[in-house]
Amino acid sequence: QSTSSSSRGAFIVFEGLDRCGKSTQVSRLVDRLEREGRKARLQKFPDRTTAIGKMIDAYLQSKAEMDDHAIHLLFSANRWECAAAIKRDLEQGITVIADRYAFSGIAFSAAKGLPFDFCLQPDKSLPLPDLTLYLTLPQEEASGRSQFGEERYETVSMQQATRKQFALVAQEVIKIHGEDRWIEIDARGTIEELEDRIKGLIGNVTEGVNGDIGRLWV
Ligand code: TMP
Ligand code: MG
Repeated sequence: QSTSSSSRGAFIVFEGLDRCGKSTQVSRLVDRLEREGRKARLQKFPDRTTAIGKMIDAYLQSKAEMDDHAIHLLFSANRWECAAAIKRDLEQGITVIADRYAFSGIAFSAAKGLPFDFCLQPDKSLPLPDLTLYLTLPQEEASGRSQFGEERYETVSMQQATRKQFALVAQEVIKIHGEDRWIEIDARGTIEELEDRIKGLIGNVTEGVNGDIGRLWV
């Protein structure tokens, strides 16, 4: 099926705790869309390649220390520096698939004890995802995966606190933007099983969407 000339690309975000299989699924989805002849682009957050991203990377690898508020704002600034390119691509009919977004920003910082509302504010009016897929995996499974524990937030207590905050983020998305924008997905099983589950849930949104790009939390 071809994309109608009036539609724009869809903005699809994948969210979840660390080692839930997000990055694997995001890259498989982008590969599939490209094989099917669609224009798609992967946008990873944090984008560690920019100047701000390098500061975030050093923090996550515990090579630098930073005040909780300051690192929170850097994560948000890292999204803002990518926002214009995301909008431009969507308007040109490219599907943008993001590996994490502002929802991780709130959940992880609030889990450290920052006020929820403080965490939400800096991302206000960023491009609004058309769809967010929230992958869930029991903590024992995520903790058992290789590499768990490599980065700063990968401790069981931090992940459990973040899981609680993600539930509040989901409520907020549904309250402000409606329940069609947030889909929770059971991320257990093989890579292929999860890929099929995601494919079924995404449906035809990757064929393009009509209407303007919304603004987050507005
Ligand atoms: P990554 O493993 O997907 O690269 O993400 C690195 C870590 O950064 C992960 O533990 C989630 C966390 N994070 C935040 O704390 N705030 C944010 O805004 C984002 C995008 C990620
Ligand atoms: Mg990671």
